[in-house]
Amino acid sequence: MQSLAARSALTPLKLRSAALRGFTSSAAKRQAVAAKSTPLNKEFKIYRWNPDEPAKKPELQSYTINLNECGPMILDALIKIKNEVDPTLTFRRSCREGICGSCAMNINGQNTLACLCRIDRTESKDTKIYPLPHMYVVKDLVPDLTLFYKQYKSIEPYLQNDNPPAHGEFLQSPEERRKLDGLYECILCACCSTSCPSYWWNQDEYLGPATLMQAYRWIADSRDSYGAHRKEKLQNEMSLYRCHTIFNCARTCPKGLNPAAAIAKIKLELAAD
Ligand code: SF4
Ligand code: SF4
Ligand code: FES
Repeated sequence: MQSLAARSALTPLKLRSAALRGFTSSAAKRQAVAAKSTPLNKEFKIYRWNPDEPAKKPELQSYTINLNECGPMILDALIKIKNEVDPTLTFRRSCREGICGSCAMNINGQNTLACLCRIDRTESKDTKIYPLPHMYVVKDLVPDLTLFYKQYKSIEPYLQNDNPPAHGEFLQSPEERRKLDGLYECILCACCSTSCPSYWWNQDEYLGPATLMQAYRWIADSRDSYGAHRKEKLQNEMSLYRCHTIFNCARTCPKGLNPAAAIAKIKLELAAD
């Protein structure tokens, strides 16, 4: 029987091809390092406004960074600018995983999450970054979400049932549970509401797609017995019916959800009542 040493011994031919493979991979590595050391400079134009200088108008400030020394996402670029170029640049972020919803902003005209948005690596094309549109600005890229959360609170976003089971948890069939798919995943980033023209013009009274989708999330939940009360609160001219099914909300949602469809389902249920 052939010994292990003999089996693993390399013939001259194998030695040559191994050396060739080694050479090819180290040549590729050298090429990659050379490519990396060539800077790929990209300009970011970022909305700046400082409440401590109220007389100064908002402006776009330009920053150029080397993308070969930066992570692939817009949030990586913002963090690099803040860490290495301008510590006064202000934005929200937490998870960098598309889970917390805090890094929502308008990037090249689209509301999205900075941590899920890849940097366009075309050197000649700048990237423009604004806060979410039609919101008061706290500073730079930080919108004031006070009203947004107040509206969310108004739909009583928690389970209500005056007859809890005597023992154990509320149970749900797989079909009942499936009705919550596409609703519970919402991270309340506000990208949809701030892309909705009806919300831009009527946000004092119209609840907007994010809040309405959450209202439906509780109406659709078989464990909740306050559906009639929840629908009653929406039965007026402004809270719900300002939605004109323009679908900006569904187009912009970075989680691929469809608030317009949820709103349509509430309308159907109200019409059937
Ligand atoms: S529906 Fe989508 S865009 Fe709207 S708040 Fe939820 S996750 Fe954000
Ligand atoms: S479908 Fe309704 S909620 Fe969505 S963007 Fe249009 S008007 Fe706004
Ligand atoms: S940092 Fe949490 S969603 Fe982007």
